[in-house]
Amino acid sequence: MTHRIAYVPGDGIGPEVLAVARRVLEAAGFEAHWNEYAIGWEEWCKRGEPLPAQTLQAIRDADATLFGAITSKPAEDAERELAPHLRGKGLEYQSPIVRLRQELTLGVNVRPCKSWPGNPNNLRNDVDVVIFRENTEDLYSGVEAHPLDPALQAALKASAPKGRVPDAGDASAVGVRVLTRAAWERLLIAAFEFAQRSNRKTVTLVDKPNVMRTTGRFLRQIFLEVSPHYPEIETRQENIDAACALMLRDPARFDVVVTTNTFGDILSDVAAEVSGGLALAPSANLGTDCAIFEPVHGSAPSIALTGRANPLAAVLAGAMMARHLGEDDVASRIEAAVADYLQRGRSLPRDLGGQADIGEVETELRSRLAAQTKTIN
Ligand code: NAI
Ligand code: MG
Repeated sequence: MTHRIAYVPGDGIGPEVLAVARRVLEAAGFEAHWNEYAIGWEEWCKRGEPLPAQTLQAIRDADATLFGAITSKPAEDAERELAPHLRGKGLEYQSPIVRLRQELTLGVNVRPCKSWPGNPNNLRNDVDVVIFRENTEDLYSGVEAHPLDPALQAALKASAPKGRVPDAGDASAVGVRVLTRAAWERLLIAAFEFAQRSNRKTVTLVDKPNVMRTTGRFLRQIFLEVSPHYPEIETRQENIDAACALMLRDPARFDVVVTTNTFGDILSDVAAEVSGGLALAPSANLGTDCAIFEPVHGSAPSIALTGRANPLAAVLAGAMMARHLGEDDVASRIEAAVADYLQRGRSLPRDLGGQADIGEVETELRSRLAAQTKTIN
Protein backbone atom coordinates (compact mmCIF):
# COMPACT_ATOMS: atom_id res chain seq x y z
CA MET A 1 0.00 0.00 0.00
CA THR A 2 1.28 3.45 -0.88
CA HIS A 3 0.94 5.99 1.92
CA ARG A 4 0.58 9.74 1.53
CA ILE A 5 3.19 11.31 3.76
CA ALA A 6 3.60 15.00 4.52
CA TYR A 7 7.36 15.51 4.81
CA VAL A 8 8.12 18.55 6.96
CA PRO A 9 11.86 18.88 7.67
CA GLY A 10 12.01 22.34 9.32
CA ASP A 11 15.22 23.99 10.56
CA GLY A 12 18.78 23.20 11.66
CA ILE A 13 19.52 19.49 11.60
CA GLY A 14 15.85 18.71 10.84
CA PRO A 15 16.37 18.35 7.05
CA GLU A 16 19.51 16.19 7.49
CA VAL A 17 18.09 13.70 9.95
CA LEU A 18 14.73 13.52 8.19
CA ALA A 19 16.34 12.76 4.82
CA VAL A 20 18.07 9.77 6.42
CA ALA A 21 14.83 8.64 8.05
CA ARG A 22 13.06 8.75 4.70
CA ARG A 23 15.73 6.82 2.80
CA VAL A 24 15.91 4.23 5.59
CA LEU A 25 12.12 3.80 5.44
CA GLU A 26 12.34 3.29 1.69
CA ALA A 27 15.19 0.82 2.07
CA ALA A 28 13.02 -1.12 4.52
CA GLY A 29 10.27 -1.41 1.91
CA PHE A 30 8.02 1.50 2.92
CA GLU A 31 6.08 2.77 -0.09
CA ALA A 32 4.93 6.38 -0.04
CA HIS A 33 4.17 9.54 -1.92
CA TRP A 34 6.32 12.08 -0.11
CA ASN A 35 5.21 15.70 -0.36
CA GLU A 36 7.46 18.29 1.21
CA TYR A 37 6.14 21.33 3.10
CA ALA A 38 7.78 24.35 4.69
CA ILE A 39 7.70 25.19 8.38
CA GLY A 40 9.82 27.07 10.87
CA TRP A 41 12.18 29.95 11.35
CA GLU A 42 12.96 30.71 7.72
CA GLU A 43 9.24 30.97 6.95
CA TRP A 44 8.87 33.35 9.87
CA CYS A 45 11.76 35.54 8.71
CA LYS A 46 10.61 35.68 5.08
CA ARG A 47 6.85 35.76 5.50
CA GLY A 48 6.07 36.39 9.17
CA GLU A 49 4.29 33.03 9.48
CA PRO A 50 6.24 29.96 10.69
CA LEU A 51 3.29 27.64 10.00
CA PRO A 52 2.03 28.28 6.44
CA ALA A 53 -1.68 27.53 5.89
CA GLN A 54 -0.75 25.13 3.09
CA THR A 55 1.43 23.10 5.48
CA LEU A 56 -1.32 22.93 8.08
CA GLN A 57 -3.82 21.72 5.50
CA ALA A 58 -1.37 19.18 4.05
CA ILE A 59 -0.75 17.71 7.50
CA ARG A 60 -4.51 17.46 8.01
CA ASP A 61 -4.93 15.65 4.68
CA ALA A 62 -1.93 13.29 4.80
CA ASP A 63 -2.05 9.72 6.12
CA ALA A 64 0.78 10.74 8.45
CA THR A 65 3.42 13.44 8.82
CA LEU A 66 7.14 13.05 9.37
CA PHE A 67 8.50 16.18 11.02
CA GLY A 68 12.13 17.16 11.73
CA ALA A 69 12.63 20.06 14.13
CA ILE A 70 12.16 23.80 14.24
CA THR A 71 14.15 26.66 15.71
CA SER A 72 12.38 29.03 18.09
CA LYS A 73 14.05 32.18 19.38
CA PRO A 74 13.09 34.84 21.96
CA ALA A 75 10.72 37.68 20.98
CA GLU A 76 13.46 40.31 20.39
CA ASP A 77 15.30 38.04 17.92
CA ALA A 78 12.02 37.19 16.23
CA GLU A 79 11.35 40.86 15.50
CA ARG A 80 14.96 41.62 14.48
CA GLU A 81 15.26 38.74 12.03
CA LEU A 82 11.98 39.48 10.25
CA ALA A 83 12.22 40.73 6.66
CA PRO A 84 12.36 44.58 6.84
CA HIS A 85 8.92 45.07 5.30
CA LEU A 86 7.33 42.93 8.03
CA ARG A 87 8.91 44.62 11.05
CA GLY A 88 6.91 46.84 13.39
CA LYS A 89 3.57 45.36 12.30
CA GLY A 90 2.87 43.64 15.59
CA LEU A 91 3.50 40.13 14.21
CA GLU A 92 4.10 37.67 17.05
CA TYR A 93 6.11 34.48 16.72
CA GLN A 94 4.43 31.35 18.08
CA SER A 95 6.05 27.91 18.04
CA PRO A 96 4.50 26.05 15.08
CA ILE A 97 4.76 22.63 16.72
CA VAL A 98 2.83 23.84 19.77
CA ARG A 99 0.25 25.35 17.39
CA LEU A 100 -0.01 22.14 15.39
CA ARG A 101 -0.72 20.19 18.57
CA GLN A 102 -3.47 22.65 19.52
CA GLU A 103 -5.04 23.30 16.10
CA LEU A 104 -5.12 19.65 15.03
CA THR A 105 -6.08 18.50 18.55
CA LEU A 106 -3.12 16.14 18.67
CA GLY A 107 -4.03 15.26 22.25
CA VAL A 108 -1.96 12.12 22.60
CA ASN A 109 1.82 12.37 22.80
CA VAL A 110 3.55 8.99 22.74
CA ARG A 111 7.15 8.77 23.92
CA PRO A 112 8.81 5.38 23.98
CA CYS A 113 12.01 5.30 26.04
CA LYS A 114 14.12 2.22 25.75
CA SER A 115 17.72 1.45 26.67
CA TRP A 116 19.15 -0.01 23.48
CA PRO A 117 21.95 -2.51 24.17
CA GLY A 118 25.24 -1.03 22.99
CA ASN A 119 24.33 2.62 23.57
CA PRO A 120 27.19 3.88 25.75
CA ASN A 121 24.98 6.75 27.02
CA ASN A 122 22.58 4.39 28.79
CA LEU A 123 22.41 5.27 32.48
CA ARG A 124 20.42 2.07 33.02
CA ASN A 125 20.07 -0.92 30.77
CA ASP A 126 16.60 -1.97 31.86
CA VAL A 127 14.32 0.82 30.62
CA ASP A 128 11.49 -0.07 28.25
CA VAL A 129 8.64 2.31 28.93
CA VAL A 130 6.11 4.00 26.69
CA ILE A 131 4.85 7.29 28.09
CA PHE A 132 1.45 8.61 26.99
CA ARG A 133 1.45 12.31 27.73
CA GLU A 134 -1.62 14.52 27.31
CA ASN A 135 -0.57 17.08 24.75
CA THR A 136 -2.96 20.06 24.72
CA GLU A 137 -4.11 21.12 28.17
CA ASP A 138 -3.14 21.12 31.87
CA LEU A 139 -0.78 23.91 32.98
CA TYR A 140 0.31 24.32 29.34
CA SER A 141 -3.12 25.40 28.10
CA GLY A 142 -2.11 29.04 28.32
CA VAL A 143 -4.90 29.92 30.78
CA GLU A 144 -2.78 32.28 32.86
CA ALA A 145 -3.38 35.72 34.29
CA HIS A 146 -1.21 38.50 35.65
CA PRO A 147 -2.06 40.83 37.29
CA LEU A 148 -4.95 39.01 38.93
CA ASP A 149 -8.23 40.64 37.99
CA PRO A 150 -10.63 41.29 40.95
CA ALA A 151 -13.54 39.56 39.19
CA LEU A 152 -11.41 36.47 38.53
CA GLN A 153 -10.16 36.55 42.11
CA ALA A 154 -13.74 36.59 43.39
CA ALA A 155 -14.78 33.78 41.05
CA LEU A 156 -11.83 31.60 42.12
CA LYS A 157 -12.69 32.21 45.76
CA ALA A 158 -16.30 31.26 45.17
CA SER A 159 -15.52 28.05 43.29
CA ALA A 160 -12.63 26.90 45.49
CA PRO A 161 -13.48 28.06 49.02
CA LYS A 162 -10.78 25.87 50.57
CA GLY A 163 -8.04 27.00 48.16
CA ARG A 164 -5.49 29.69 48.97
CA VAL A 165 -6.71 32.28 46.46
CA PRO A 166 -4.39 35.34 46.53
CA ASP A 167 -5.39 38.99 46.60
CA ALA A 168 -6.20 40.63 43.27
CA GLY A 169 -3.57 42.90 41.74
CA ASP A 170 -0.06 43.07 40.45
CA ALA A 171 1.46 41.02 43.26
CA SER A 172 -0.43 37.87 42.19
CA ALA A 173 -0.43 35.59 39.16
CA VAL A 174 -2.41 32.44 38.46
CA GLY A 175 -2.12 29.60 35.96
CA VAL A 176 -4.86 27.02 35.61
CA ARG A 177 -4.56 23.23 35.45
CA VAL A 178 -7.13 22.76 32.71
CA LEU A 179 -8.40 19.19 32.35
CA THR A 180 -11.26 17.86 30.25
CA ARG A 181 -12.91 14.46 30.22
CA ALA A 182 -12.69 14.32 26.42
CA ALA A 183 -8.92 14.77 26.29
CA TRP A 184 -8.20 12.48 29.21
CA GLU A 185 -10.49 9.70 27.98
CA ARG A 186 -8.85 9.87 24.56
CA LEU A 187 -5.42 9.56 26.15
CA LEU A 188 -6.41 6.66 28.40
CA ILE A 189 -8.04 4.73 25.57
CA ALA A 190 -4.96 5.24 23.38
CA ALA A 191 -2.70 4.00 26.19
CA PHE A 192 -4.76 0.94 27.06
CA GLU A 193 -5.32 0.03 23.41
CA PHE A 194 -1.58 0.28 22.84
CA ALA A 195 -0.86 -1.85 25.90
CA GLN A 196 -3.27 -4.51 24.71
CA ARG A 197 -1.99 -4.49 21.13
CA SER A 198 1.64 -4.75 22.11
CA ASN A 199 1.27 -7.26 24.94
CA ARG A 200 2.30 -4.83 27.63
CA LYS A 201 1.40 -5.87 31.16
CA THR A 202 0.73 -2.72 33.18
CA VAL A 203 -0.52 0.84 32.78
CA THR A 204 0.61 3.28 35.48
CA LEU A 205 -1.24 6.54 36.14
CA VAL A 206 1.24 9.25 37.18
CA ASP A 207 -0.19 12.38 38.84
CA LYS A 208 -0.22 14.04 42.27
CA PRO A 209 -3.73 13.45 43.65
CA ASN A 210 -2.69 13.61 47.29
CA VAL A 211 -2.00 17.34 46.84
CA MET A 212 -4.11 18.36 43.85
CA ARG A 213 -7.06 16.61 45.36
CA THR A 214 -9.97 17.81 43.25
CA THR A 215 -8.38 17.65 39.81
CA GLY A 216 -6.50 14.50 40.83
CA ARG A 217 -9.74 12.77 41.81
CA PHE A 218 -11.24 13.78 38.45
CA LEU A 219 -8.39 12.13 36.53
CA ARG A 220 -8.36 9.06 38.73
CA GLN A 221 -12.11 8.61 38.39
CA ILE A 222 -11.86 8.50 34.59
CA PHE A 223 -8.85 6.14 34.84
CA LEU A 224 -11.00 3.82 36.98
CA GLU A 225 -13.82 3.99 34.43
CA VAL A 226 -11.66 3.12 31.42
CA SER A 227 -9.33 0.48 32.91
CA PRO A 228 -12.01 -2.24 33.54
CA HIS A 229 -12.49 -2.45 29.76
CA TYR A 230 -8.98 -3.94 29.64
CA PRO A 231 -9.16 -6.59 32.38
CA GLU A 232 -5.95 -8.34 31.34
CA ILE A 233 -3.91 -5.19 31.98
CA GLU A 234 -2.76 -4.48 35.52
CA THR A 235 -3.08 -0.88 36.71
CA ARG A 236 -0.89 1.10 39.09
CA GLN A 237 -0.73 4.67 40.37
CA GLU A 238 2.31 6.71 41.35
CA ASN A 239 2.92 10.31 42.35
CA ILE A 240 5.06 12.27 39.89
CA ASP A 241 7.91 12.85 42.35
CA ALA A 242 8.07 9.18 43.30
CA ALA A 243 7.81 8.23 39.62
CA CYS A 244 10.88 10.32 38.75
CA ALA A 245 12.87 8.71 41.57
CA LEU A 246 11.70 5.22 40.57
CA MET A 247 12.59 5.89 36.94
CA LEU A 248 16.20 6.17 38.16
CA ARG A 249 16.21 3.43 40.77
CA ASP A 250 13.89 0.78 39.34
CA PRO A 251 12.75 1.68 35.80
CA ALA A 252 11.80 -1.91 35.01
CA ARG A 253 8.64 -1.46 37.07
CA PHE A 254 7.28 0.90 34.40
CA ASP A 255 5.67 -0.44 31.26
CA VAL A 256 3.03 1.95 29.86
CA VAL A 257 2.56 5.28 31.66
CA VAL A 258 -0.33 7.75 31.30
CA THR A 259 0.14 11.24 32.62
CA THR A 260 -0.71 14.91 32.26
CA ASN A 261 1.00 17.37 29.95
CA THR A 262 3.26 18.93 32.60
CA PHE A 263 4.18 15.74 34.42
CA GLY A 264 4.66 13.93 31.11
CA ASP A 265 7.09 16.62 29.99
CA ILE A 266 9.20 16.08 33.09
CA LEU A 267 8.94 12.32 33.36
CA SER A 268 9.66 11.72 29.67
CA ASP A 269 12.85 13.78 29.86
CA VAL A 270 13.97 11.77 32.89
CA ALA A 271 13.09 8.50 31.16
CA ALA A 272 14.82 9.55 27.92
CA GLU A 273 17.98 10.54 29.75
CA VAL A 274 18.11 7.36 31.83
CA SER A 275 17.63 5.28 28.70
CA GLY A 276 20.47 6.77 26.69
CA GLY A 277 19.60 10.37 25.93
CA LEU A 278 17.85 12.36 23.24
CA ALA A 279 19.82 10.66 20.49
CA LEU A 280 17.42 7.73 20.36
CA ALA A 281 14.15 9.30 21.50
CA PRO A 282 11.30 9.38 18.94
CA SER A 283 7.75 10.57 19.56
CA ALA A 284 4.29 10.64 18.05
CA ASN A 285 1.56 13.27 18.28
CA LEU A 286 -1.76 11.59 17.63
CA GLY A 287 -5.15 13.14 16.94
CA THR A 288 -8.37 11.45 15.95
CA ASP A 289 -7.56 11.60 12.25
CA CYS A 290 -4.11 13.09 12.08
CA ALA A 291 -0.66 11.99 13.25
CA ILE A 292 2.77 13.63 13.37
CA PHE A 293 5.98 11.70 14.08
CA GLU A 294 9.17 13.45 15.16
CA PRO A 295 12.44 13.02 17.00
CA VAL A 296 12.20 14.51 20.52
CA HIS A 297 15.37 16.58 20.04
CA GLY A 298 15.34 20.10 18.64
CA SER A 299 17.07 21.70 15.67
CA ALA A 300 20.58 21.68 17.23
CA PRO A 301 21.68 24.68 15.09
CA SER A 302 25.30 24.55 16.27
CA ILE A 303 25.89 21.20 14.55
CA ALA A 304 23.71 21.72 11.45
CA LEU A 305 25.54 20.85 8.21
CA THR A 306 28.64 19.58 10.05
CA GLY A 307 27.78 15.88 9.59
CA ARG A 308 27.66 15.46 13.35
CA ALA A 309 23.88 15.10 13.68
CA ASN A 310 22.78 11.69 14.88
CA PRO A 311 19.82 10.57 12.73
CA LEU A 312 18.74 7.61 14.91
CA ALA A 313 15.90 9.39 16.75
CA ALA A 314 14.45 10.51 13.40
CA VAL A 315 14.90 7.00 11.99
CA LEU A 316 13.04 5.54 14.97
CA ALA A 317 10.31 8.17 14.53
CA GLY A 318 10.00 6.87 10.97
CA ALA A 319 9.65 3.32 12.30
CA MET A 320 6.91 4.49 14.68
CA MET A 321 5.12 6.09 11.74
CA ALA A 322 5.35 2.88 9.73
CA ARG A 323 3.89 0.86 12.62
CA HIS A 324 1.08 3.41 13.03
CA LEU A 325 0.21 2.92 9.35
CA GLY A 326 0.06 -0.85 9.77
CA GLU A 327 3.53 -1.54 8.36
CA ASP A 328 4.75 -3.63 11.28
CA ASP A 329 7.31 -5.46 9.17
CA VAL A 330 8.91 -2.24 7.97
CA ALA A 331 9.08 -0.95 11.55
CA SER A 332 10.55 -4.18 12.89
CA ARG A 333 13.17 -4.29 10.13
CA ILE A 334 14.28 -0.74 10.93
CA GLU A 335 14.40 -1.39 14.66
CA ALA A 336 16.41 -4.55 14.09
CA ALA A 337 18.87 -2.62 11.92
CA VAL A 338 19.26 0.06 14.62
CA ALA A 339 19.70 -2.59 17.33
CA ASP A 340 22.36 -4.43 15.34
CA TYR A 341 24.18 -1.25 14.40
CA LEU A 342 24.37 -0.11 18.06
CA GLN A 343 25.84 -3.44 19.09
CA ARG A 344 28.08 -4.28 16.17
CA GLY A 345 28.50 -1.13 14.08
CA ARG A 346 32.02 -0.09 13.08
CA SER A 347 31.62 3.35 14.61
CA LEU A 348 28.82 5.10 16.48
CA PRO A 349 27.74 8.75 15.98
CA ARG A 350 29.78 11.34 17.82
CA ASP A 351 27.20 12.07 20.50
CA LEU A 352 27.45 8.36 21.37
CA GLY A 353 31.21 8.60 21.66
CA GLY A 354 32.08 7.38 18.15
CA GLN A 355 33.43 8.97 14.97
CA ALA A 356 30.69 8.20 12.45
CA ASP A 357 29.19 11.11 10.57
CA ILE A 358 25.57 11.12 9.50
CA GLY A 359 26.33 9.55 6.10
CA GLU A 360 28.19 6.64 7.67
CA VAL A 361 25.32 5.98 10.07
CA GLU A 362 22.96 5.83 7.10
CA THR A 363 25.27 3.44 5.23
CA GLU A 364 25.50 1.15 8.28
CA LEU A 365 21.70 1.03 8.60
CA ARG A 366 21.05 0.52 4.89
CA SER A 367 23.61 -2.26 4.54
CA ARG A 368 21.86 -4.08 7.38
CA LEU A 369 18.45 -3.58 5.76
CA ALA A 370 19.81 -4.89 2.45
CA ALA A 371 21.22 -7.96 4.22
CA GLN A 372 17.86 -8.60 5.94
CA THR A 373 16.01 -8.43 2.62
CA LYS A 374 18.41 -11.00 1.15
CA THR A 375 17.77 -13.35 4.07
CA ILE A 376 14.00 -12.94 3.65
CA ASN A 377 14.08 -13.61 -0.11
P1 NAI B 1 18.33 20.56 20.95
O1 NAI B 1 17.62 19.27 21.17
O2 NAI B 1 18.29 21.12 19.61
O3 NAI B 1 19.86 20.36 21.38
C1 NAI B 1 20.27 19.99 22.69
C2 NAI B 1 21.70 19.42 22.65
O4 NAI B 1 21.69 18.13 22.06
C3 NAI B 1 22.65 20.26 21.80
O5 NAI B 1 23.93 20.12 22.35
C4 NAI B 1 22.61 19.55 20.46
O6 NAI B 1 23.78 19.75 19.69
C5 NAI B 1 22.43 18.10 20.85
N1 NAI B 1 21.63 17.32 19.88
C6 NAI B 1 20.29 17.41 19.68
N2 NAI B 1 19.90 16.59 18.73
C7 NAI B 1 21.00 15.95 18.29
C8 NAI B 1 21.25 14.95 17.31
N3 NAI B 1 20.25 14.42 16.55
N4 NAI B 1 22.51 14.52 17.12
C9 NAI B 1 23.52 15.02 17.86
N5 NAI B 1 23.35 15.94 18.82
C10 NAI B 1 22.11 16.41 19.03
O7 NAI B 1 17.72 21.58 22.03
P2 NAI B 1 18.12 23.13 22.31
O8 NAI B 1 19.57 23.32 22.13
O9 NAI B 1 17.50 23.43 23.60
O10 NAI B 1 17.31 23.94 21.22
C11 NAI B 1 17.82 24.29 19.92
C12 NAI B 1 16.66 24.80 19.08
O11 NAI B 1 15.72 23.73 18.87
C13 NAI B 1 15.89 25.93 19.75
O12 NAI B 1 15.58 26.90 18.80
C14 NAI B 1 14.65 25.25 20.29
O13 NAI B 1 13.56 26.13 20.35
C15 NAI B 1 14.43 24.16 19.26
N6 NAI B 1 13.69 22.98 19.74
C16 NAI B 1 12.78 22.44 18.87
C17 NAI B 1 12.09 21.30 19.19
C18 NAI B 1 11.16 20.74 18.18
O14 NAI B 1 11.22 21.11 17.02
N7 NAI B 1 10.29 19.82 18.54
C19 NAI B 1 12.28 20.62 20.49
C20 NAI B 1 13.31 21.24 21.31
C21 NAI B 1 13.96 22.38 20.93
MG1 MG C 1 10.59 18.99 27.26
